[in-house]
Amino acid sequence: MSGPHESVDSQRSTEPDSEVVNGYLHEAIAAIAAATTTAELKQARLDHAGDRSPLALANRKIGTLPPAERKEAGARIGKARGVLNQAVSARQAELAALELETALRDEHVDMTLPVHLTPQGALHPITALIDDMCDVFVAMGWEVAEGPELEAEWYNFDALNIGPDHPSRALQDTLWIDPPSDGKLLRTQTSPVQIRALLERDLPLYVVSPGKVFRADEYDATHLPVFHQLEGLVVDKGISMADLRGTLDHFARAMFGDVRTRMRPHHFPFTEPSAEVDLECFVCHGESVGNPDAPCRTCRSEGWIEWGGCGVVNPRVLQACGIDASLYSGFAFGMGVDRTVMFRNNAPDLRDFVEGDIRFSRSLLGGAR
Ligand code: DAH
Repeated sequence: MSGPHESVDSQRSTEPDSEVVNGYLHEAIAAIAAATTTAELKQARLDHAGDRSPLALANRKIGTLPPAERKEAGARIGKARGVLNQAVSARQAELAALELETALRDEHVDMTLPVHLTPQGALHPITALIDDMCDVFVAMGWEVAEGPELEAEWYNFDALNIGPDHPSRALQDTLWIDPPSDGKLLRTQTSPVQIRALLERDLPLYVVSPGKVFRADEYDATHLPVFHQLEGLVVDKGISMADLRGTLDHFARAMFGDVRTRMRPHHFPFTEPSAEVDLECFVCHGESVGNPDAPCRTCRSEGWIEWGGCGVVNPRVLQACGIDASLYSGFAFGMGVDRTVMFRNNAPDLRDFVEGDIRFSRSLLGGAR
């Protein structure tokens, strides 16, 4: 653009002359190149190509130029804006690729690195055994019934035909809630759940009731003040001791394999007749009896293991629950769960059960659960 009128021309076409436009463009290109993140690039694009950028403002002024100059100015600014937009797109692509590469590198997960395993808990062996025991009965169509641990004297004793003078009511056995005159206690057996089931459920009744029981016992290798029982109760028409026997045999075989049971006469106020049930030793099957060369730790070479109490439901219990004892009869049994874990899993010290050491639980569960 040389010529005699150059200065006059540039004056007339005031702005934006190509130098100014190029200046804007250079500044913009520099800012775009300097952007190192897509966020910075966005800002640079706003500053240099946005509505308030010098180029946009210059573009807006085109309309104020003399008509003859508009075309040229428009082309100049349009071209600059085109170049600018291309530069933005190119830088955008570069930065996006860079950011992706950085993310892939920084967020890379090495699947071969050793992991820190969060230690997991284990089922308590008593919980596991209660589950297994209940499964045997649920498979026969029985229901699982639970009752409160804080119990009323009437359920724990009176309704079970345990009169006021019965020795198990003595203070050294029962943990009474203050004041004892309120007749509240920590249940000493799961048998009160029998009463609750008889009162609340329809006949015929087939229930098992596992749970905690409490007695003012010593804390030593074979006694805990808190332990567990599993109670069973059937009330139906025509139930006899033979049904009890068959049920216990099935229960024993389901839990211990090919073993027999035996009953020894006993007394419980809530059953008549009553018996204690023994389990044939599932380890030596009696082979150790009178055989000092092959002693058995599980049954202490006695051949039988005491397992629980049982009997035919005393009609007085049925009557206490409003059941016609001339129509219905039943049987009941109660086993110590902790004791069962002891001889079943060779756990000689009951105190281990309450120490809360997960290694104990794991060793008894055999890593199965
Ligand atoms: N409740 C008895 C106890 O704690 C155990 C027991 C014996 C339960 C005989 C029964 C039963 O259901 O029939 O020693």
